[in-house]
This record gives sequence, C-alpha cells and structure tokens, in this order.
Amino acid sequence: MSRPSTLGEFIIEKQSEFQYAEGELSRLFNSIRLAAKVVNHEVNKAGLVDILGNANTENIQGEDQQKLDIYANEKFIQTLINRNIVCGIASEEEDDFIAVNSQNNAHSNKYVVLMDPLDGSSNIDVNSSVGTIFSIYRRVTPVGGPVTIDDFLQKGRQQVAAGYVIYGTSTMIVYTTGKGVNGFTLNPAIGTFYLSHPQMKFPEKGGIYSVNEGNYIHFPQGVKDYIKYCQKEEEDRPYTSRYIGSLVSDFHRNLIKGGIYLYPSTSKNPKGKLRLLYECNPIAFLAEQAGGKSSDGFTDTLDIQPTSLHERVPFYCGNTGMMQTLEGFLQRYG
Ligand code: AHG
Ligand code: MN
Ligand code: MN
Repeated sequence: MSRPSTLGEFIIEKQSEFQYAEGELSRLFNSIRLAAKVVNHEVNKAGLVDILGNANTENIQGEDQQKLDIYANEKFIQTLINRNIVCGIASEEEDDFIAVNSQNNAHSNKYVVLMDPLDGSSNIDVNSSVGTIFSIYRRVTPVGGPVTIDDFLQKGRQQVAAGYVIYGTSTMIVYTTGKGVNGFTLNPAIGTFYLSHPQMKFPEKGGIYSVNEGNYIHFPQGVKDYIKYCQKEEEDRPYTSRYIGSLVSDFHRNLIKGGIYLYPSTSKNPKGKLRLLYECNPIAFLAEQAGGKSSDGFTDTLDIQPTSLHERVPFYCGNTGMMQTLEGFLQRYG
C-alpha cells in the first residue's frame, strides 16, 4: 500500500495497530487535529488583533498567563469535552484536573489527556515559534467509576501516545503512539495536514546545545562542566548554541538537526522549571521513539514516579550520545 499522505488517512490506517482498537484513540487524535487548526488560526493572527499581553491572571505556578494561553486551553478542552472522548483532562492552565462526564454514559471513556496548551508563550509577542504539547494515557481506575488523580499520576512509560503541535514558519503535528515518530505539515490553504516527516529519527551525531546560559552561575557543577565541554575546540566541537525559549521549538530543531536540550536544576529552583507531566514526559516519549534519550541527569524521565499534577523536574533531552556524555558529567558530582 502506498504511503498515506494526510493525517486523517494516517490515523485511519494506523487504527488497527492499537492494542485497544475501539476507534476511541483515533477520535481523540482527530479532536487534537481540529483544535490545533483552530489555535493555529488564532496564533497566526496574533500580531493583527488586540490579543497580545497578559490576561491579568496568574496560573497555579504564579506565572503570568498570556491571552493566547487561555484561548488555546479553552479550545483544546472544549473540543475534547464536546466530542466526548476522554474521561479526564489536566492542563498547565488548570489548578486541578477536569473530570469529564458524558450525559448518558458517565465516565465510560478510557483515556485521559494532559497538556501544555501553549508552550513558549512569551515568544508570541516577538513572532517566534510556540507549540502545544499533549500526553495521552489509558485510565488506571475502573471504567464507569470516577476519574481520580491516580489516572494522571502515571509514569511517562505508560503513555499511549504523545506529541506536539508547532506553530512555526509552517504548522506541524508531530506525534508517536509508540511505533516511531511521524510529522505532518499543515497546508493552510486547505486546512489539511500532510505526512511530511515519516519516521523521524535524531541524526547519528548532534552538534547543538540548547540552554538558557544566563542562568549559568546557578547551574550544578556537572552542567557547567558539560557546557565548557561543548565549547571546547576538539574534533566535532565546539558545538553550536541555539536557544529559542520554547521547549517545543528547541526540541523540534534538535530532533531534526541533532542536539541536546538542557533545563537544569538551579540553586534557586532545585527542581528546575519544566513540568514533568505535560512538558517533559511527552517530549521524552517522542525522544525515545526517535532514537534519543532524556533524563533528570540520573533517572530516565519516563521512569520517574509523579507525585503531583504540576511537579517540576530537571530535564535533559537529545541525542543519546550527547546525553550519555552529559550524564557522565552530572554523575561525577552525585
Ligand atoms: P510555558 O510558555 O508553557 O510556560 O513554557 C515555557 C518553558 C519552555 O517552553 C521553555 O523552554 C522554558 O520555559 C524557557 O524558560 P526560560 O525563559 O527560563 O529559559
Ligand atoms: Mn511550557
Ligand atoms: Mn504553557
């Protein structure tokens, strides 16, 4: 059979590969695809309409929310609830998880979704790339009963699917269901995503390191040593430094070109900044499926047992070789 060319076709073709082929997961992907197009439309015209700036509210982490954060959050939640395909949703922008009840068949759905509706949102003001990150699990509590926090606090290893939308020079959906990573590019003229990046893999060798070096003074000694290693004149070094400040965009570039992303613990924030459940785990799943690796320096991200919805972890992710070198530096200091 010839290669499927659109995301819609691809979802249908792959449906039979899922362990639980009830079509529920396919419907879930279709909802994400729809919400992504709606958010894409809004993100694209952000410079035109009076939508920039803060909405004068703060999220649970005490960070300013941009208006588009809220818009994206609402669109994804509405789409998932209206189509009645998940039993629960957790979001960076919601203090607590949302239990979704269907009218006739309470809690009959099997999947929960966790998301960062708009990642790298400070980039909106300067017309740079932002993204949406999503992570999908099968619930662990019995179908028919109420969804609980246990359905969300699963190890990343249990993810059924994960991915991101990148609203960049082109808009793309990149996702995995545990059988490799595929990328689809939106043709905005007709609103269709086409398979443009089949079976994405990190290149054998990476040459980019991505870190907010302004925080250097606060980094653990192992990270400081690794940065100096990256900058050293030797064989394929010094590496190139690239940092957008949007995990989705930095990861996407590193996946295609080869590189490593670092958001370390700092003396001020010992757990780093990024959120385990809806930032690190989905990206970690994609990285592993693309032949890469991620960890907190010691434990594979996908093996960390979550204890709360919005917890943060130090996050390192990229080419396996680069990751092993970094972990070597970190582990010298215990
Ligand atoms: P969000 O916009 O969802 O709050 O996420 C921003 C995150 C991540 O995408 C990015 O890599 C990181 O914050 C940048 O942080 P610094 O500005 O501290 O480098
Ligand atoms: Mn984010
Ligand atoms: Mn966000």
